[in-house]
Amino acid sequence: MTPRKIIIDTDPGQDDAVAILLALASPEDVTVLGITAVAGNVPLPLTQRNARIICELAGRPDIPVYAGCDAPLSRKLVTAEHVHGKTGLDGPPMDDPTMPLQDAHAVDFIIDTLRTEPAGTVTLCPIGPLTNIATAFQRAPDIIPRVQEIVLMGGAYFEVGNITPAAEFNIYVDPEAAQIVFRSGVPLVVMPLDVTHKALTTKARVDAFRAMGSRVGDMVAAWTDFFERFDMEKYGSEGAPLHDPCVIAYLIDPHLFTGRQINVEIETQSDLTLGMTVADWWRITDRPKNALFIGDIHADGFYALLANRLARL
Ligand code: RIB
Ligand code: CA
Repeated sequence: MTPRKIIIDTDPGQDDAVAILLALASPEDVTVLGITAVAGNVPLPLTQRNARIICELAGRPDIPVYAGCDAPLSRKLVTAEHVHGKTGLDGPPMDDPTMPLQDAHAVDFIIDTLRTEPAGTVTLCPIGPLTNIATAFQRAPDIIPRVQEIVLMGGAYFEVGNITPAAEFNIYVDPEAAQIVFRSGVPLVVMPLDVTHKALTTKARVDAFRAMGSRVGDMVAAWTDFFERFDMEKYGSEGAPLHDPCVIAYLIDPHLFTGRQINVEIETQSDLTLGMTVADWWRITDRPKNALFIGDIHADGFYALLANRLARL
């Protein structure tokens, strides 16, 4: 099968790092056309730096990395250093990247790529706030029908919010951008907290990374050790959810996941529930079924895939 051409839009973030490594370790499944950084977990200067560190860790300094939007469409940036640390990739010590950042703006790269590649052949994989994607759609509406699919990490329904009682972080940071993407008409696959909270790290799963005896395995284990402390304290869980790699795992093996084609709308007015993904799971309304909203995962299969692929790097 021809590998899927993708653009990863990201705010690294330890879990973003694992998602990017999984993609770069899976050339038979995905071709990464470029990585676009967005402000989110940490400010843009750090997310674009971190994206380049991750590409170099994967031995892929050839992957073009672009800096995108440094703030949401119309709100002040909210970051998540309390989860990811000051650098966004806290855990192991890391050197600054040596590979260059591309001169072009990430939004221009997204627009140009969608205009140049044959229509319906590029999948967008946002794993941070949706500011870059929404800006591209606003600036160049002609690219919207050319997008094959958007597979994103964001939102929550039965699992409720992680940054507020009602909202998941990626959507909450830029709800107006999320509304543009969710109403765009592009086929959407949504990986909400409902499924990512079922993909928890455990000691055995992290030990499998460490047992690789590689720099990638050691870094991923060190990142998850750091990243999981917040969730374990907050939820009392054994481990932390590896949110973003679910997006890439879906592209590699969609059978690891189950969900429903339903309507999902974004709350942008209420201070109390700002950024909530209102998922019509029981199909009560006749609103358009704009998203495949994923609710479950074969967690052992997911971690087996992760370990198998990351061992290649
Ligand atoms: O809520 C989880 C999401 O927010 C993940 O993408 C994580 O990296 C942060 O961006
Ligand atoms: Ca992320």
